[in-house]
Amino acid sequence: MTTSHGAADPAPAAAYAQAAEAAGRAPSIHNTQPWHWEVHPDRLDLRADSSRALPGTDPDGRMLTVSCGAALHHAEIALRAAGHAVDVRTLPDPADPDLLATLTVTGDVPVTPEAMRLVQAAELRHTDRRPTVDIAVTPAQVEELRQVADAYGVHLHRLNPDQVTDLVVAVSHAEDAAAAEPAWQAETARWTGPDRPAGAGLPPEVIPDRRPETDVGERDFGTRGTLEVGGGHDKASTYVVLFGGDDDRAAWLRAGQALSAVWLHATVQGLAVLPYSQVVEIDGTRAMMRRILSQLGHAYVVLRLGVADPEHALPGRTPRLPFEQTTTVDDLGA
Ligand SMILES: Cc1cc2nc3c(=O)[nH]c(=O)nc-3n(C[C@H](O)[C@H](O)[C@H](O)COP(=O)(O)O)c2cc1C
Repeated sequence: MTTSHGAADPAPAAAYAQAAEAAGRAPSIHNTQPWHWEVHPDRLDLRADSSRALPGTDPDGRMLTVSCGAALHHAEIALRAAGHAVDVRTLPDPADPDLLATLTVTGDVPVTPEAMRLVQAAELRHTDRRPTVDIAVTPAQVEELRQVADAYGVHLHRLNPDQVTDLVVAVSHAEDAAAAEPAWQAETARWTGPDRPAGAGLPPEVIPDRRPETDVGERDFGTRGTLEVGGGHDKASTYVVLFGGDDDRAAWLRAGQALSAVWLHATVQGLAVLPYSQVVEIDGTRAMMRRILSQLGHAYVVLRLGVADPEHALPGRTPRLPFEQTTTVDDLGA
């Protein structure tokens, strides 16, 4: 078998292993990377790994599932960029709830420039907690991202100025609730402190060195990092909500696929992205988000879009767990 550009096509099992490896770059709540891949000769299975769950912060596994959905999208685009047509089944076995998805290569597809752009963006994508500069995100950029989310059945709504004011209040309530919750604080400390697991969690280089001067307060990790935030603000930032009609695991997986797709397209557009999930993690503020959305749906995650201040250092890269820790490969020779 050859790809459209003439290179030898890897055997599917090797392609599945490469896709699992590429999916390791996906974003995840607190960089927990709560997924486990099983490479089989005929398919790639994605499982939730509850050993890296956040029971205090994320008791229902919402953010865990959204994170796994983002990894699923990363694997999907890696297979497409390698010239494979892929069939994706989510939650394929009701008797096996940890099996979140199965990907199966069904044939060859031409490698499109779009597929190449997305896998390249996956290498560059990162969470940007630097404030943004006075360059507005254009309506055309937001419209493109809306269409990208729509392809996964997920809505993207740009918050108007009044709704951003409501978001400021919701974020502040969420931070107060988190500060009053010892289990929450303990988990944040575990994934951002010196005892975080090797290859996971947030290193000091990606945590601001002081509270940024933004209207919508950034997540408080309870520790000062070394990321220079400079004097930017969020006045020209755009806040969008990914939301949908359902609030169950299937919906959260789709939200994760859409989050990854939107984030990678925003990266191609040159935009900096920062998720805000604390307002969705806490019951009271999740209800506030529903009111902000005029009860039209359930919020999955809020994103700040903007242009980062080029004067200030790029955030360092977050580490990743070794491949062997997130992936089991069986019967490669079969
Ligand atoms: C579902 C989800 C929720 C997240 N929530 C937040 C958040 O509330 N605040 C924040 O600063 N980063 C948040 N992040 C970003 C993660 O911390 C980040 O993806 C992870 O540390 C890996 O870093 P990277 O995105 O730079 O590769 C979230 C990411 C995901 C996927």
